[in-house]
Amino acid sequence: MGAVSSRLPVFPWDKLEPYKATAAAHPGGIVDLSVGTPVDPVPEVVQKALTAASDSPGYPTVWGTPELRDAIAGWCERRLGARGMTHQGVLPVVGSKELVAWLPTQLGLGPDAKVAYPRLAYPTYEVGARLARAEYVAYDDPTELDPAGLKLLWLNSPSNPTGRVLTKDELTRTVAWAREHGVLLFSDECYLELGWEAEPVSVLHPDVCGGSHEGIVAVHSLSKRSNLAGYRSAFLAGDPAVLGELLQIRKHGGMMTPAPVQAATIAALGDDTHVTEQRARYAARRTALREALLGHGFRIEHSEASLYLWATRDESCWSTVAHLADRGILVAPGDFYGPAGDRFVRVAFTATDERVAEAVRRLAP
Ligand SMILES: Cc1ncc(COP(=O)(O)O)c(C=O)c1O
Repeated sequence: MGAVSSRLPVFPWDKLEPYKATAAAHPGGIVDLSVGTPVDPVPEVVQKALTAASDSPGYPTVWGTPELRDAIAGWCERRLGARGMTHQGVLPVVGSKELVAWLPTQLGLGPDAKVAYPRLAYPTYEVGARLARAEYVAYDDPTELDPAGLKLLWLNSPSNPTGRVLTKDELTRTVAWAREHGVLLFSDECYLELGWEAEPVSVLHPDVCGGSHEGIVAVHSLSKRSNLAGYRSAFLAGDPAVLGELLQIRKHGGMMTPAPVQAATIAALGDDTHVTEQRARYAARRTALREALLGHGFRIEHSEASLYLWATRDESCWSTVAHLADRGILVAPGDFYGPAGDRFVRVAFTATDERVAEAVRRLAP
């Protein structure tokens, strides 16, 4: 027992607990800007669809209902500009975290394979490689990686934690490089609809992929754009050969999105109004927190998209975490996302307007 868990890193959030206790002891209560978990209501149109599908006694399918596949394919064409989407080119997953964590295993990667991901990244890319006993490597520029043994390349634009957006040229160059070297490219685009000072582009855009989805898969999630983190709804879109293989494996593994969640996902993908409303909430919180942090002496890098501000006081991230915890504000230390982040903190703007206003008040000089 314990042999598999010993392959995994220490769960980083446990290290934040003492600072959480400090922040929680603040007389005005904690302002938790650490985990980027949505706090606003699930859109009514989505709640209604979930409720209407609550009488679902039978097993759902892993591939999802034809209506769900239509909704995903249609959304990819409408929002990503993808062309020629078919049912074979889409696959629902049970939230994107499980996919990220188990993809190398489901692709059959092992000790002779390498997985690459950005130098500063969502930690689950590494977890996925470790679960499969694959090697892993962090990159600054993916096209400078040694392609020998490299089987899976992760992109993440907009980035967690930095909010950086890859340009169309960077994406195009990387897709071409991955194809030239036979490396499968997965692009995690779960913040694509949360661009503020940049317009994020999908790898499925014809200008990037040349109209073919060969060797590329985009990962999308409804957690952030539709406040559905509690529903576990996400999907893949891209190369039908890759998705067909994953579908077979996931069928045997029973990785089904619950039927009411499939119905809710169809409603969410068909409605842009709630996305516009949610974006407006985040935009206001982002502006307020950004100005407050700058006024407090922080520098902010990247952060042109996503739900985070990547901020520094040019000191150890843990000193910044402690400084803010003393003011009742909890943020994530940058080294959770790789050693290169050790002088930054990640400030999420997923808190209520009231809590954000309270943080702004406490940061005032
Ligand atoms: C880059 C990135 N990918 C994937 C996920 C997982 O999202 P979910 O499992 O809710 O779809 C997150 C969550 O924060 C993330 O930041």
